[in-house]
Formats: sequence, structure tokens, C-alpha cells
Amino acid sequence: MKILITGTDGYIGCIVAPLLLREGFDLVAVDTGYYKTGWLFNGAAQSARTIAKDIRNITKDDLYGCKAVVHLAELSNDPTGQLAPHITHEINHKASIRLATLAKEAGVERFVYMSSCSVYGVANSPDAVTEESGVNPQTAYAECKVLVERDLVELAGDTFSPTFLRNATAFGASPRMRFDIVLNNLAGLAWTTNRIAMVSDGTPWRPLVHALDIAQAIACALEAPRDAVHAEVFNVGDSAQNYRVRDIAEIVGKVFEGCELSFGETGADNRSYRVNFDKIHDRFPTFSCDWDAERGARQLHDVFRRIDMGAEVFEARAFTRLEQLQYLLRTQQIDERFYWTPAPRRTDAQDSGL
Ligand SMILES: NC(=O)c1ccc[n+]([C@@H]2O[C@H](COP(=O)([O-])OP(=O)(O)OC[C@H]3O[C@@H](n4cnc5c(N)ncnc54)[C@H](O)[C@@H]3O)[C@@H](O)[C@H]2O)c1
Repeated sequence: MKILITGTDGYIGCIVAPLLLREGFDLVAVDTGYYKTGWLFNGAAQSARTIAKDIRNITKDDLYGCKAVVHLAELSNDPTGQLAPHITHEINHKASIRLATLAKEAGVERFVYMSSCSVYGVANSPDAVTEESGVNPQTAYAECKVLVERDLVELAGDTFSPTFLRNATAFGASPRMRFDIVLNNLAGLAWTTNRIAMVSDGTPWRPLVHALDIAQAIACALEAPRDAVHAEVFNVGDSAQNYRVRDIAEIVGKVFEGCELSFGETGADNRSYRVNFDKIHDRFPTFSCDWDAERGARQLHDVFRRIDMGAEVFEARAFTRLEQLQYLLRTQQIDERFYWTPAPRRTDAQDSGL
């Protein structure tokens, strides 16, 4: 089955692509490469050759012959979404719907969309939220996820089946590492400073899922019978993996021996939700979350030791999305609409070989 997959130079995409190749899918991979300078470690897995292209420039020709689209390429967290909310809407909402519309017109049958549990925002009920619960997005990033789900459902029909994967917050090692997500960040701090000093009291709930388990969920959605996934929403994770942020810090503190922990007095983060993940386990019998926070923290500890990671790597901007995008804007490598600017013309000095 030929698939167009976007976001393969990203944290999750660079793990999903090798898994889908191993499962026998034929991939056309697309990414504009905002974070391409960041590469934490080499692995043995074969990956797809990624075409450097903005999703806003994808044409129908890119999609002919594909049976499915797996769409990951967006400005992918709350801080980057807040950097320029109108651009977040342009890329995350409008370009995603444009991509799906073109896909449908080109005869693509399935569209697996990477949504997020952040659509639940501040949950008003003490119970864990399900796919049927109301959404309550708190940021431009989460709002766009809600809008894409709303508009994509309108495209569903006899020949086109969108599926919405509302992923929990990811964790775990990836060559395209991100240190701006909670468990990875705490693990990096523990390794480089031996200290986790949280400003907040750590009480908000945060469901977690390993990037490799997200990759499994995508494969399950592609392989499931159409009826099981047609216009369906799935929370991706495991009900046993709703953690309070302070639990995550304590788990990391246990794995990174000798790490000092301290917490603040107040709740600095108003996003808090516990999520019920029963549906995905019921509908996809082969799906399981093989990783919990402790196993993920051990994996990170092993990777940091293997590559002898220093603070300069942990703090490198390419591993923290907001910093990398701010840098690309400041140095005018991308313009105000987040398109790459043309490379500067060669100077006379360069032309004369100096
Ligand atoms: N990481 C998480 O915790 C998490 C949780 C829930 C949902 N998700 C979703 O999963 C998807 C992948 O997340 P990730 O963590 O791998 O993100 P990431 O930021 O690491 O990767 C996203 C990739 O998309 C590319 N991209 C962004 N805008 C683009 C554009 N206009 N054209 C082409 N490429 C573009 C970037 O260059 C990047 O390589 C996203 O849709 C994200 O919202 C992630």
C-alpha cells in the first residue's frame, strides 16, 4: 500500500516511517525540515527518503496512487502554536484541510490525522474524559486540532475515511529528539544537572504515551477494517498512564539516581486532564502500550549515557521547537509566514574564491 506521510523529519514521524516500512508500506515522505539540524543519535532502522516540501505546497500529483495519508506535519506544541497563532491556523488548520481535500479528490481512501489529548484542555469533571466528552481547547494549537477534526469529518464519505488519533503527550528517545515535552525535559535536566526544581506544585494530570506506541497506533489505524476507523476518534495511550506531573518527576528522580527534586507551591499550568483510553484497546485488539514512564526514563538514561550527552546537546535549539523557530525567524531563514527564504546570493568575495 502506497502512503503519503507528512512530518517524517519530526520527533514522532522519524520513528513512524521505519515502522511502516517494516510493515511493508511504500512511503512518500514529506517535511519542510524546520528542525533538521537536530539529530541526537544514530539507529539501525531504515527510514524513508523525505522530500523537502511545505504541506501548503502539496499538489494532487503528490497524492495520486496513494491509498492513505498519515498527517503529522504541523507546528506541534502549545508554545510554537502561540508564536504566531495566525500562522498556526494557516498551517495546522487550513493546510491540513486543504491536504485532505486534495487527497479525497485524488482518490486517497484513508486519512489518519494526528490529533491530541490537549483538545480536552481543562477537564471540568473529576472523571477521565472519553472520546465522547466535550472539548475545551486552551491554546491556538489545541483549537486547530478541534477545527481540523470538525472539518475533516465533513469530508468523510463512501470513498474517504478520516481517522482521528488524539495522542497523549509523547515521551521517549527519537533521533529527532524533543526536550520540550515533560518526561524528556525532566530526564534531560536530571542527567545534565542532577536536579529537578519545579516552579509549580506538579499537580496537573498529564497522560503520557511513548512515541513507539503512537507509531503502533498509526499502523493499527491503517490496517483496521474501514468500518472500525471511519470518521472515528481514538484517544491514544493507556488508562493506567495518567500521571500527575509530580509523579513523572518522581519516576525520573528514581531512575536518574542521586537527582534532587523540589516542587513549588502553585499550579503554574492550567491544562489538566485524565483520559480514558479503553476505546482504542477495544477496537484494535493488537494495540498495546508497551512503554510506561519508568521504562521510557530508563531508555533515555541509556541513550544519554551511550552518546555521553552534555548540557550543550540537551540545550541545543534544534531539540526545543520554540527556540528553533524563533532562531529561524530572527535570522530570516524563514519569513513571517514560516516559508524558507531563498538562500543569499553569493558575494563577489565568494565568487573570487576568498
Ligand atoms: N509529541 C507529542 O507529544 C504529540 C502529542 C499529541 C499529538 N502530537 C501530534 O503529532 C504530530 C507529530 O508531532 P511531533 O512531536 O513529531 O512534532 P515535531 O514538531 O517534532 O514534528 C513535526 C514536523 O512537521 C514539520 N512541519 C511543520 N510545519 C510544516 C509544514 N508547513 N510543511 C511541512 N512540514 C512541516 C516540521 O518540520 C517537523 O519535522 C503533530 O501533528 C503533533 O501535533 C504530538
